[in-house]
Amino acid sequence: MKSEHFVERHAGRSASQLESASTRKKVVNRLLEDDLIRRVSYDQYRQEIRQVYAGTRGAILAVCSLLSLHVPLGERLFRERRFDLRGRRNILDVGSGAGQLVQHVLKYADPEARITCFDLSHQMLLRARQRLRSTRPRFLAADLSRLPFPDASFDCVTCGYVLEHLPDARLGLAELSRVMMPGAPMLVLTTEDTFSGACTSRVWRCRTYNRRELAEACREVGLQWHKELWFSPIHKLLRAGGICVEMVKRG
Ligand SMILES: C[S@@+](CC[C@H](N)C(=O)[O-])C[C@H]1O[C@@H](n2cnc3c(N)ncnc32)[C@H](O)[C@@H]1O
Repeated sequence: MKSEHFVERHAGRSASQLESASTRKKVVNRLLEDDLIRRVSYDQYRQEIRQVYAGTRGAILAVCSLLSLHVPLGERLFRERRFDLRGRRNILDVGSGAGQLVQHVLKYADPEARITCFDLSHQMLLRARQRLRSTRPRFLAADLSRLPFPDASFDCVTCGYVLEHLPDARLGLAELSRVMMPGAPMLVLTTEDTFSGACTSRVWRCRTYNRRELAEACREVGLQWHKELWFSPIHKLLRAGGICVEMVKRG
């Protein structure tokens, strides 16, 4: 069905025409994308990002996530068990921000599960604490590229829109793979190299990822690209909402 639709839409266009249209699209997206992360050192970039989230953008992050429907649609992934938290005992939430994903983790994880939240920004940790009003999660400041946890500490990870703040996904994925137990699942949401992703990157000063390259990076660090997820059928049709994937730590 999908391939019929594709053939119909592109009837009369040769393979090389399609290829050059896709290259043009990539070039436009790349030109539009914020380039801070490519221009400065990672240390300088981190300082800039801390300021971005400490300021007004961090203060309105929770509202933005509601308006973009990321919070309600994200909840469906947990409620419908498309990302299943049942039986998980030690859950890590990466770059918790205002607690947008961890609020679902609190709701759908088993009552006895331990939940750890970390973020680069102290200000965001404070905001998450105030919003969640729960004493259950452990909050700590840390950088995804240097995690303060022993190997194989967590049997589940959630990582929403954080990888795009790294110059190379492998910096964070390798650390996450190290702290995950064999067989542990990880939900990853990240900005894609599409037109809407490039626009998002300008607001949050982040980069975007190419789906195929991210899958390759994931394999390189011992994670399996297990299952691609979509917020809704419309998101899938329009390839909107960024990359949403379940990765699993290889046994
Ligand atoms: C867009 S918010 C994501 C919030 C939430 N996880 C979600 O799903 O909406 C990105 C968060 O990642 C944090 N962050 C950025 N770079 C980070 C890093 N290297 N290590 C840890 N957290 C980081 C930011 O401070 C910010 O709070």
